[in-house]
Amino acid sequence: MRIYIDTASPEHIRAADRLGVVDGVTTNPSIVADTDRRYRDVVETTAEIVDGPVFAQVLAEDADEMVREGRGYQEWAERVIVKLPATRPGFEALRRLRADDVPAGTTVVFSVEQAVLAAKNDATFVAPYVGRIDDSGADGLATTRRIQSVFDAQGFETEVLAASIRNTTQATALYEAGIDAITMSPSVLDAHIDHPETAAGVEGFAKAWGDRDPPLSE
Ligand code: E4P
Repeated sequence: MRIYIDTASPEHIRAADRLGVVDGVTTNPSIVADTDRRYRDVVETTAEIVDGPVFAQVLAEDADEMVREGRGYQEWAERVIVKLPATRPGFEALRRLRADDVPAGTTVVFSVEQAVLAAKNDATFVAPYVGRIDDSGADGLATTRRIQSVFDAQGFETEVLAASIRNTTQATALYEAGIDAITMSPSVLDAHIDHPETAAGVEGFAKAWGDRDPPLSE
């Protein structure tokens, strides 16, 4: 499975990359807007840090302009994957970009049927928004599992990329379900590591060792 980090912060991306568990970086317009940096700068800087894909979402609302933006993003860096919304213009732009082999997929996915339309267009990925699906009153984890099982049953190669993850409970449920990929914020990644009992255990070992010389100085 693949793990992506959902941020535009170079510090957070570098820190995650050092752990060796990050396969790429996802962004969205809200994340980029929060940085006060140019979109291009965010994508270029991110691509210099990570070896994997950098997901960049279009801002346009009509298909022609989405296609133009998607092609423009490809000029900024290698390994850019264009994110298109699950709307009529988004699906039209997806068809056109995929017909030319531009890596592109569908985001802000709330249903199995939207995911199927994306896969039929040979989307590179679909991103069900787990947390936001829950907020809407439906079941984000169940929707994501159903998308994965439809794709497996139909032999679609489109990656299921679970997004809008709020906590490690959701993340571990997705791992158990065999979801292709997950993107998470730096704070959810931190929560994968930090455990009070681990901290207490490590502190206990240091206390037991006391002021003895470190092992390599013996
Ligand atoms: C995915 O690529 C999106 O950027 C992200 O996961 C959206 O999550 P949010 O609901 O926290 O904004």
